[in-house]
Amino acid sequence: MNYRKFGKTGFNISEVSLGTWQLGGKWGTPFDEQDAQATLAEAYDRGVNFFDTADGYQDGASERAVGQFIKTHPDVHFTTKIGRKEEPLTAEHFSPKNIDRYVDNSLKNMDINALDMVLLHCPPTSVMYQPETFFELDRLQKLGKIRHYGVSVEKVEEGIKALDYNVAGIEIIFNMFRLRPAKLFFDLAQKHDVGILARVPLASGLLSGKYTADTKFAPADHRSNNRHGEHFDKGETFSGVDYLTGVKAADELKQRLGTDRLAAMALRYILMYDAVSAVIPGASNPTQIERNTAAAELAPFTTEQMAIVQSVYDQYIKNPVDYLW
Ligand SMILES: NC(=O)c1ccc[n+]([C@@H]2O[C@H](COP(=O)([O-])OP(=O)(O)OC[C@H]3O[C@@H](n4cnc5c(N)ncnc54)[C@H](OP(=O)(O)O)[C@@H]3O)[C@@H](O)[C@H]2O)c1
Repeated sequence: MNYRKFGKTGFNISEVSLGTWQLGGKWGTPFDEQDAQATLAEAYDRGVNFFDTADGYQDGASERAVGQFIKTHPDVHFTTKIGRKEEPLTAEHFSPKNIDRYVDNSLKNMDINALDMVLLHCPPTSVMYQPETFFELDRLQKLGKIRHYGVSVEKVEEGIKALDYNVAGIEIIFNMFRLRPAKLFFDLAQKHDVGILARVPLASGLLSGKYTADTKFAPADHRSNNRHGEHFDKGETFSGVDYLTGVKAADELKQRLGTDRLAAMALRYILMYDAVSAVIPGASNPTQIERNTAAAELAPFTTEQMAIVQSVYDQYIKNPVDYLW
């Protein structure tokens, strides 16, 4: 495993880290505490020292599991995300009063004295123009309740606006099917010494190249029920790519890159960008963790391989993805 500087935080985090949205079981099944601890331990044993969680994941169970794990592994860092537990989502959810409440809840949930990093969890764009929210985070930082803060954003422009504040990290979708952040945002983030977490790095699994036109997902899985943004931004599901188009584009990537391990290649591709501090793939079993962490050991992409990714993107993905996020 290799470790990268996480912006101005002073943390050195594993370049392949772990997302914990689906920690503790499959989508829609009850949370399995033992499974969650085993998953975190599997990642840790492979060099992962950074977990991304949120107050809303599994109704707080993901946060509790990460909190429990770090009690015996104090070298692990984490982000938790706040503000999306209560629907429908409005800018009011990110008012100073509510921010205080969420931070206190997360501290309690994780049973910890200070949160390494709090991210606003995909707030509406207007929150970026609501400075009192960020000033409140500054205040909580001075009080010692949070060490750093940032934003998990949907759109590139939201990430750019967030740089006006004292953010230390931005979480954004970036993968072989979402290239626009590299064009517009990465240099700016680096200039501000802001770390980037590349979320949904496998386009919800599409970039493993294992799905076909006939693959079925469980009804409670967002990959069944959020393809058109029925519950939240459709960009979070398959990275906003039409499913069948994504299957075709992934098949072409496999063939042109000459690999049957596209998932690891897809992660290695993201790590070609120095501005990225870590990729945070989710995993539904230990083998996936093993394969994903192995991405850190792969050879860098050649110029020719980089061009293949760009050409598949331009042919299949750019329109409409580049215009929506
Ligand atoms: N709004 C936000 O801030 C937000 C939104 C989304 C995600 N996130 C964060 O980003 C993390 C990652 O996102 P994600 O889990 O949605 O998407 P992802 O990492 O792109 O895809 C994860 C899925 O890919 C498949 N997979 C993983 N490794 C694999 C491998 N080696 N080989 C084959 N298949 C593999 C698994 O699907 P199968 O179950 O089909 O095997 C897994 O559930 C989340 O856990 C969360 O921490 C944040």
